[in-house]
Amino acid sequence: MKKYLEPQMGKLVLSEIKSAGELQKRIALLERKATREKKARNIAENQLERYSMEVYQTDQSLKKALAFATKKQLELEYLSKASMGDASELPLSEMISNMIELTCEYCAAEYGFYLVTKDGVEVEGTLDNAWSKELEWQSQSELQSLVNANLPLSEADVLESWSVSTLIDDDALYFGCILYMNFALSGGKIGWLAFLNKKGSVDEGIFPILATARDDFNSGIRRRLTDIYILERNVQLQESVNKLEMAKRQLIQSEKMASLGQLAAGVAHEINNPLAFIRSNMQVLKEYLIDYKSLHDDIKRELATHNNLDMSSFIALCEKVDLSYIHEDSVALLTSNIEGLNRVRDIVENLKSFSHAGDAKLIQISLNKCVDAALRIAGNVFKYEHQIDNQMINSSPLVLGNLGQLQQVFMNLFINAAYAMQGGGKLSIWHTEENHRVIIHVKDTGCGMNEETISKLFTPFFTTKPVGVGTGLGLSVSYVILEAHNVQVTVDSEIGLGTTFNLSFPVSF
Ligand SMILES: Nc1ncnc2c1ncn2[C@@H]1O[C@H](COP(=O)(O)OP(=O)(O)OP(=O)(O)O)[C@@H](O)[C@H]1O
Ligand SMILES: [Mg+2]
Repeated sequence: MKKYLEPQMGKLVLSEIKSAGELQKRIALLERKATREKKARNIAENQLERYSMEVYQTDQSLKKALAFATKKQLELEYLSKASMGDASELPLSEMISNMIELTCEYCAAEYGFYLVTKDGVEVEGTLDNAWSKELEWQSQSELQSLVNANLPLSEADVLESWSVSTLIDDDALYFGCILYMNFALSGGKIGWLAFLNKKGSVDEGIFPILATARDDFNSGIRRRLTDIYILERNVQLQESVNKLEMAKRQLIQSEKMASLGQLAAGVAHEINNPLAFIRSNMQVLKEYLIDYKSLHDDIKRELATHNNLDMSSFIALCEKVDLSYIHEDSVALLTSNIEGLNRVRDIVENLKSFSHAGDAKLIQISLNKCVDAALRIAGNVFKYEHQIDNQMINSSPLVLGNLGQLQQVFMNLFINAAYAMQGGGKLSIWHTEENHRVIIHVKDTGCGMNEETISKLFTPFFTTKPVGVGTGLGLSVSYVILEAHNVQVTVDSEIGLGTTFNLSFPVSF
């Protein structure tokens, strides 16, 4: 038996060969096996090729997806940054520069420009109005002219979308096209954003993104223009409010002066009365002084003649001038003069507080003092046929108010009441309290008012008095004052029976 080495490949082991026939069989077997293995290898190779093709295709798709994702990321970054500028509180000019810088980078332009036109002519922004990534903001007058020449600046309306203008070679230096848009500013102005590109065209794919950014930008511009408009309107409104406030003060003051004029005659009468009796008292006192002088002369003469004056002669001389009466009456006359002067002083004091300019400074005041002072000033409009029942004398409700202004209100009410009670009547003033408010009631038994008069009561210049008698401002000015004091007014009136004004004041604790 012959021994063979085992072959390196194949699974059959030829350890022993017994004969040639057997060897043949073995060879055929090995050949079949080799054929099978070859087939299997071919199949494996084909499969390998398919796999590597698939891997290649997957790789290509991944690369595409990556490029797409990068593009999307850039778009998202652009949109989010652009919309951040629009939504933030950036001022208008910063929002516009922000948009130029972002768009310039996004569409890979060389320069971004901003200009403003009105009626087709550039109106502002010649300095530092060009932006590039390297140089940032600077002035580019030559390029600016190129841009201006290639934009439809004479266009009156705002363009509907982004536009592109291809530059003519000679003008273009080394630029290919301009991408631009415009938007409406206030006062009929138009703002323009323009981007100079090296390439002769702009990638169509970026237009939807640019359109979205443009929409955001436009809404940001509109919001800012509205803010600016509101701010300007606020300033105008504040000015109007100030003017109205001034007019209101003037109205109050002039109404006060008108009331004062009306009262002047009465006041003059009030002052004239004491002045008249002071004057006549002084006349009598002067005569008394003459009597004193003659008594003095008589005594001197007696002493010169007799070198003595006995008591009976002295009494006789005193009786001659009625000295005891002179003493008694002089005291009475001087007391009456002092009272008269006090009265004049009071009237002057009241007039001073009345004409005090109506600043709205509110302090704690007692209403009875206010009513009392107003009654004293307006007192002369009430005659002997009038009765005044002031029940406020012993109560002193406190409110926050301006004494001068509230006196003016009460005076207007009292003067109106007196006018309504021309044939005589009764004025009553009293107060009630409810829900932390003090209500002052001013009631007259005058002619009363019809519905129409009541509805126009507080309208400026409404009066039923004859021309030249009333200004029709009394109650309207009073109403303004009462409003400033947070006082609510109601009126009850019946024709022929009278009128009651109810003023409800918030109580001051
Ligand atoms: N107590 C009242 N009784 C009846 N009518 C009144 C009374 N108070 C006001 N009125 C009516 O309201 C009108 C307007 O009053 P208001 O005080 O505003 O102006 P006026 O008294 O006419 O003029 P002015 O006050 O400038 O002298 C009066 O003309 C009168 O018709
Ligand atoms: Mg009046």
